[in-house]
Amino acid sequence: MKVLALVLFLGAVLSPAFAQTEEFPVEEEGSPAEEEEELFKTPAAKMAAAATNFGFNLYRQLAYKDLSSNVFLSPPSVAAALSQLSLGCSPSTEKQLYKVLQYHLLQEPELHTTLKNLLSAISDPGKGFKTAARIYLERKLRVKLDYLNTVEKEYGVRPKVLVGNPRVDLKDVNDWVRQQTGGKIDRFLSANLPRNIGVLPLGAAYFKGQWVNRFSQGGRPQNFKVDDLRSVSVPMMSEERYPVKLGIESNLRCKIAQVPMQGDVSMLLFLPDEVSQNLTQIEESLNAEFIHDIVTLLQPVDVSLTLPALKLSYTTNLLPTLADLGLQQFISTPELVKITSQQAKVNSLHHKVALEVTEEGAQPLSNMARGLYMAFHVDRPFIFVVREETSGTTLFIGRVMNPSKFQSL
Ligand SMILES: *[C@@H]1O[C@H](CO)[C@@H](O)[C@H](O)[C@H]1NC(C)=O
Repeated sequence: MKVLALVLFLGAVLSPAFAQTEEFPVEEEGSPAEEEEELFKTPAAKMAAAATNFGFNLYRQLAYKDLSSNVFLSPPSVAAALSQLSLGCSPSTEKQLYKVLQYHLLQEPELHTTLKNLLSAISDPGKGFKTAARIYLERKLRVKLDYLNTVEKEYGVRPKVLVGNPRVDLKDVNDWVRQQTGGKIDRFLSANLPRNIGVLPLGAAYFKGQWVNRFSQGGRPQNFKVDDLRSVSVPMMSEERYPVKLGIESNLRCKIAQVPMQGDVSMLLFLPDEVSQNLTQIEESLNAEFIHDIVTLLQPVDVSLTLPALKLSYTTNLLPTLADLGLQQFISTPELVKITSQQAKVNSLHHKVALEVTEEGAQPLSNMARGLYMAFHVDRPFIFVVREETSGTTLFIGRVMNPSKFQSL
């Protein structure tokens, strides 16, 4: 049994009010079901925790395949696509999907309504988050009308049967995603759809974050250490004295800062003590309970903050990753009996995300006081989580190993 201890660094460089070191034992990992019942009480909070845990499981599969690659995911949009798909499954296929989505722990008869309401709450315009999820269906399939109606009723988006012309279909999918994301996700699919697309779920997400406190320095190129030998020069935002919530995780050998954003959103930054191309130690610990504990225990302090400007997009087909999470049977022999009585397969799950976070913020900091503040310089590989605070939803999970290697927006 692993006990995580979040140790708050409260040294002399910080305000005298914190001039002592405290150690908070974070709760032990018991059975996940038990913990969830304690921590996450409302249906929305439980759903947010389920999507978060699903997201971290997906993240780990992608992250461990290639330790030095950038990874970027938006769990709610993938969960939404798979949940729409689950409405077309036989009970045994639905069970497989629910297990991966962590819905088997929810005991929630109204889970589609809960998810729909959660998606609508986190997409409030003030939060800067947009998401789109939809099921597309191959023209040859004789699709059951009931399925289209049920998904539309539950999620407010109707699955669409394609016309069978690769170019027209590509344009149709890309236009819809672009429109749903306010023009921010362009060219969702970059190549024409293959002939046998079968049932095609897709999920896209876009985030333009605004800090609560604007950074006075933005866009200046600074060195980001990729590993012990290599650096890349990337635009960074910085501020000598910036209010964050902070903790030091000595077991994981990292510092954690939570930086507030507009609309009750925040960014959690996991900064390893050393430059490393292997963040496995931190990644192993990421789950909804851990994030919940962290945000409860972090303490407000001012730090000297430097952070790469993030303007990036990332595209992936998540189907092989879902196979690794235990959905092999679903992928080889899905029972999509409520969608069609023909044999139909899911051949890909496209996911595209884009994020823009620069120095922009709602208010400037009055930076009169001079002094030495503890450094939180994100100039080496790091992990970040964008979190919607009201519900606890993880909007994005990212790992930046080399910021110059993301597709730019
Ligand atoms: C990465 O780090 C983990 C945990 O610290 C360790 O067990 C693993 O062997 C490392 N992998 C590589 C390839 O260095």
